[in-house]
Amino acid sequence: MNFSAATLARFAKEVAKYPSDQAQSAVMACLAIVQQELGFVSAESEQQVAAYLGMPPIAVHEVTTFYNMYNQRPLGQFKLNVCTNLPCQLRNGETALAYLCERLKVEEGGTTADGRITLQKSECLGACADAPVLLVNDRQMCSYMTHDKLDDLIELIQNQPVLSSQPRAEGISHA
Ligand code: FES
Repeated sequence: MNFSAATLARFAKEVAKYPSDQAQSAVMACLAIVQQELGFVSAESEQQVAAYLGMPPIAVHEVTTFYNMYNQRPLGQFKLNVCTNLPCQLRNGETALAYLCERLKVEEGGTTADGRITLQKSECLGACADAPVLLVNDRQMCSYMTHDKLDDLIELIQNQPVLSSQPRAEGISHA
């Protein structure tokens, strides 16, 4: 797979923001573009971004694997990241995750049978006081997620239009 001319143009725009000998500084932006367009960053994409930016493939892989907002595999249309770090654990973060696993009939890290929802645990989302918290599609924070609010969220998601292909919806409206 090679990137399209449109994708390469977007890469070039990002690279142009940095001095000519520092193209590597655009690596995160280029990976974000890949994910926006393809839904995830494959090993092949990492290698191509590395070649484009003139950096070792392992250095690109280190970026992809350090930040959990980069998906390394295809996910559902909706990605739910539930925080289970210690402050949230003390305020029902694990309970919220377990409840969602049961409701959605998935293991942590799995995707629902209809392919719509991927459920994952996450590191601290910076909203410890609002626990339990979860992030929808890397963008939308949901706070104080009691079981009732989790039910409302699932219902809201299930009422969203089905996208036939990636990329996923950017977000949903959630009261
Ligand atoms: S520990 Fe969960 S948001 Fe900080």
